[in-house]
Amino acid sequence: MEKVHSIAVEQTQNSRLAQVDFENLNFGKIMSDHMLLAEYDNGSWQSVKVVPYENLSLSPAASALHYGQAIFEGIKAYSLENGQISIFRPDQNHIRFNKSAARLEMPEVPEEIFLEGMKELIRTDRDWVPKNPGTSLYIRPYMFATEAALGVHPSASYKFLIITSPVGAYYNKPLRVKIETHFTRAAEGGVGFSKNAGNYALSLHPTRLAQEEGFDQLMWTDAKEHAYIEEAGTANLLFIMDDTLITPSSETILRGITRLSIMDIAKKWGLKTESRKVSIEELINGIEDGSVTEAFAAGTAATLTPIVEIGHEGKVYKLSDPATRAFSNKVLAYLNDLRYGRIEDEFGWNL
Ligand code: COI
Repeated sequence: MEKVHSIAVEQTQNSRLAQVDFENLNFGKIMSDHMLLAEYDNGSWQSVKVVPYENLSLSPAASALHYGQAIFEGIKAYSLENGQISIFRPDQNHIRFNKSAARLEMPEVPEEIFLEGMKELIRTDRDWVPKNPGTSLYIRPYMFATEAALGVHPSASYKFLIITSPVGAYYNKPLRVKIETHFTRAAEGGVGFSKNAGNYALSLHPTRLAQEEGFDQLMWTDAKEHAYIEEAGTANLLFIMDDTLITPSSETILRGITRLSIMDIAKKWGLKTESRKVSIEELINGIEDGSVTEAFAAGTAATLTPIVEIGHEGKVYKLSDPATRAFSNKVLAYLNDLRYGRIEDEFGWNL
């Protein structure tokens, strides 16, 4: 990570670092000492600074609270073997963030704020990047509409923030997932590809219903027929079928950066990869005839989490013991080696 100079930093006088139990990190419960804050008004970004983490002041009429102009990203910074800190592919998150912004008629956030601001924030809170195996600093950039107005129109003002949180695993066990064939996450022409707050709000009720049946998560299916697998909501889905790595593809799916990285690594290793429609029927038949040997969720928060059971129409289909999964274990070990700087970064992904 290179040094940046242009962003003002106001240091906290009350660091909370000493209170953090780095041996027992959950996901996203503790926020680091500082945050990046930028304000957009009158057609331009007015101020960008790193300030102590603190509550925000908002108008009760702020339009994000009413009409949901709110988007975010998830990125991780790692403490490398050589003592440096690297951020995994934040340039890709920046591109995706601005695509989400465009779909919700929100302003673009330039590189000087998104990437340079992130680097300055991580430099300021470098002691918050955890060092234990399996831990990282989760980085949450987000933007929301602040104009006090009850008419439905794009807000004239926005706040862009980056907060960070030292984290361990998001999922601490293999997943049991239910194929969702009633509720819909996203339809063609909608906002499924974007990382907007509403996509997560709508998942909460169907997910709770699935959890009452004993599942951890959902596998969303397409809006038209509920016949094709899409994503898990908190992560993308990938399968090994015969000798091919397959990930469902549709314009409604979030273009995950962990998913992209795993597909790129597999290609480099000479494995056959396919990004295409995957029907429920193909998946269930593949589990039953043994051609589906691995299934997993992949995301920044989730990293790579094995799926061990898939529920569909009252039946539960069991997959192989995660310990025996050749591809998942090899690619996760490789990704970890790369992100923690234990091997050469042959793709140039660590910034
Ligand atoms: C991520 O993987 O970064 C996500 O945003 C998923 C979830 C924590 C909302």
